[in-house]
Amino acid sequence: MVLSSVVASQFDTHGKYGGVVPELASREHLRAIVPVVRHALEQARSDLDDLAAIAVTEGPGLVGSLLVGITYAKSLCFVRKRPLIAVNHIEGHIHAVILEAGPSIEYPAIALVASGGHTHLFEVREGSADRGSYCLSYRLLGKTRDDAAGEAYDKVAKLLGFGYPGGPIIDRLAPHGDPHAVKFTFARMKGNTLDFSFSGLKTAVLRWVQEHNLTDEIAARRRSQNASAQDFLALTPQSTLDLLASFQHAVIEELLRRAAVSIEETGARALIVSGGVASNAGLREAAQSAGLACPVFFPTPALSTDNAAMIAAAAFPKFRAGHFTDFSLRAQANLALA
Ligand code: KG4
Ligand code: ZN
Repeated sequence: MVLSSVVASQFDTHGKYGGVVPELASREHLRAIVPVVRHALEQARSDLDDLAAIAVTEGPGLVGSLLVGITYAKSLCFVRKRPLIAVNHIEGHIHAVILEAGPSIEYPAIALVASGGHTHLFEVREGSADRGSYCLSYRLLGKTRDDAAGEAYDKVAKLLGFGYPGGPIIDRLAPHGDPHAVKFTFARMKGNTLDFSFSGLKTAVLRWVQEHNLTDEIAARRRSQNASAQDFLALTPQSTLDLLASFQHAVIEELLRRAAVSIEETGARALIVSGGVASNAGLREAAQSAGLACPVFFPTPALSTDNAAMIAAAAFPKFRAGHFTDFSLRAQANLALA
């Protein structure tokens, strides 16, 4: 059960740069971590002494931001004499779904994790019961070779003069356009056909923008940062709405096509979709009507994007199994899950 969930957003900090600036991200983490933890404890009507253990993200991610969390978690564990649990951020995203839908999910499952930093497909299996707690095991089936799906959203949004993050605004505007208006072609994947590639899509959007004169509308949107979706809608002609709808359609098709193949190849009994892109309404709708061979599970939108509840959820089986870490824990920017 989630007693409290507090998220400190950095959109205002990074928004004017059109993407995450690593130095600013770590500074904001440093600024936020103490008040956020205090707020979370207040919301849960508890204090540090009530905690049985403290979980922290070990990686992957920006090393400066990871270090802030790890250093703070270590200090709390040292002072309060609590065990420390290291969690992989991607495993956290998968557990956001298990946290809510746990008993309904049958294994083996396929997990599609699509966020600003990752686009991964895993086969997820139940491990052996370890002290009565099931730890899951993961096998990587495919991943992006260049941009992550969320990154493609952010880059396309930046290119077109919408603010950061791009996913939510494109998600809101795409239903107003024709998803078949602009045809995007994808290069054939050599090697692992379950790998993704989104950088070509971004380049195709750039080419479209160069071929159509969008200078004025882009400038108008840039002047209206923090505008509501309704305001952006008024500042966006139909042809650009069609472009957005077609872009989103192409991303969704790429994600679901590979998820469907993974389900077939592994005989999976559930599809778990998570990460920031999992909050996309178009993706949710398409996944439900794609005729997949197994049920699909999404987290509620608040648990799709980064949050600490998912880290605690991923830590819980480790806690039950006594998988603790010592103070030699280090940030691992490129930590793999499988
Ligand atoms: O999981 P997350 O919060 O952070 C990372 O681990 O990266 O994901 C953030 C990413 C951003 O790229 C953002 O544009 C994308 O998720 N995103 C969306 C939506 N909401 C957030 N992408 C598409 N549709 C959305 N509704
Ligand atoms: Zn994430």
